[in-house]
Amino acid sequence: MKIDVLLGLQWGDEGKGKVVDVLTPQYDIIARFQGGPNAGHTIEFDNKKFVLHTIPSGIFNPNTINVIGNGVIIDPFILQKEINKLDESDINVRENLLVSRKAHMILPTHRLLDAVYEKAKGKDKIGSTLKGIGPCYTDKISRNGIRVGDIEKSNFENKYRLARERHIKIIEQYNPDYKSIEIDGQLFIEYEKNWHDALKVLNELKKVNSEYFLNKQLEEGKKILAEGAQGTLLDIDFGSYPFVTSSNTTTAGVCNGLGIAPSKIGKVFGIFKAYCTRVGSGPFPTELFDEDGKMLRDVGNEFGSTTGRPRRCGWLDIPALKYAIMLNGVTELMMMKSDVMNQFKEIRVASKYMVNGDETMELPFDDEEDMITPVYSTLHGWRSDITIASNYYDLPCDLKNYIKFIEDSVGVPVKMVSYGPDRKETIIR
Ligand code: GDP
Ligand code: IMO
Ligand code: MG
Repeated sequence: MKIDVLLGLQWGDEGKGKVVDVLTPQYDIIARFQGGPNAGHTIEFDNKKFVLHTIPSGIFNPNTINVIGNGVIIDPFILQKEINKLDESDINVRENLLVSRKAHMILPTHRLLDAVYEKAKGKDKIGSTLKGIGPCYTDKISRNGIRVGDIEKSNFENKYRLARERHIKIIEQYNPDYKSIEIDGQLFIEYEKNWHDALKVLNELKKVNSEYFLNKQLEEGKKILAEGAQGTLLDIDFGSYPFVTSSNTTTAGVCNGLGIAPSKIGKVFGIFKAYCTRVGSGPFPTELFDEDGKMLRDVGNEFGSTTGRPRRCGWLDIPALKYAIMLNGVTELMMMKSDVMNQFKEIRVASKYMVNGDETMELPFDDEEDMITPVYSTLHGWRSDITIASNYYDLPCDLKNYIKFIEDSVGVPVKMVSYGPDRKETIIR
């Protein structure tokens, strides 16, 4: 068997959580391969809403195993809160969740480092979620990290102390009064204590060498779906650097983040919104600053699932979408939040760019410095409520034309159209 992949093609928040949840009954295992609690994946069903940060979005199906892979970074305190919330709804987390021993841990001092680094950047800040992502992945790459499997070892406390001391020396250079910095509304010392207490939760979870586990399951014919976090345009290598996250959010990340050989990658589901959003700093060629942008934000409820920040909104960007499809080898597209555009009389799509006076389909090296001017195509809006459509053929002609325009532009079929946050508000073609 091969492993299927589901990931975001824009700047995150495309609706990955919803689609994973919809597809979960078709899979035995859902596995997260990168990112950490900077992610916020929303799932809605039976008038209930959940936001997951670390746990894969397959957790609501009692028959599916969920794996947090080695490429993910885990903050035990945030994970504990997530598990407690699921416990309240009688979701069987402990039974159905496996954690890779090789996953790295986000320490309280990683969060302090994130805070002081961002502050020092001033107006050039990344707009990080401040969950300690950059500093934790930095420690992983520089071979200073602490992994989940280390908790089981006798020298864990010593390792922790040494990492903490190393971090504090750096933090003090930025802010000698670091003890007064608050993390999620708690003073650092208090947060650190809670973080330590939360290690218990990691101790109680089932830990595995997930690369062996997953490959064995594939050999036995089990169906696995890899769940991406963030989006392709936030990828550390291919996103708008430095306004990116610190992991490979693309299909390549599945190989490193789960221990899966490239030849074992199957279908690649690319999730995109019918428009674009971005939260945090960085270039956004089709961003809207007018009433249309406001309408997308208001109707789409475009406020971050993790930080609550308003998301920047703009028209769909075909060169960026084509780039993401190329990098990921997308085989099927899934278009989300179509309902948010129900009221638009006209819809614009960036079909190419002008960069420094030349027409191009390519994103330039430095998309801040090189002036990108989108060249727009204008399409008719469908101006109707699509929630009454029960299948693809029932959708308004102008929406089907919009989808055809996208398919013709990028050369990949749109296999799912989502028209609301609920599990049921989904049309599979
Ligand atoms: P993720 O990070 O990719 O999982 O996406 P988020 O959960 O951060 O953001 C997507 C938001 O859109 C969530 O609030 C979802 O409940 C919501 N959503 C998903 N699909 C649709 C849709 O088709 N229509 C509408 N109106 N909302 C949707
Ligand atoms: P999901 O999985 C949207 C953005 C941040 C910031 C940049 C770096 O829900 O789609 P980081 O915290 O990684 O240092 O932030 O990346 N970002 C996201 N934006 N959705 C996400 O995840 C994101 N995770 C990080 O806003 O601009
Ligand atoms: Mg999100």
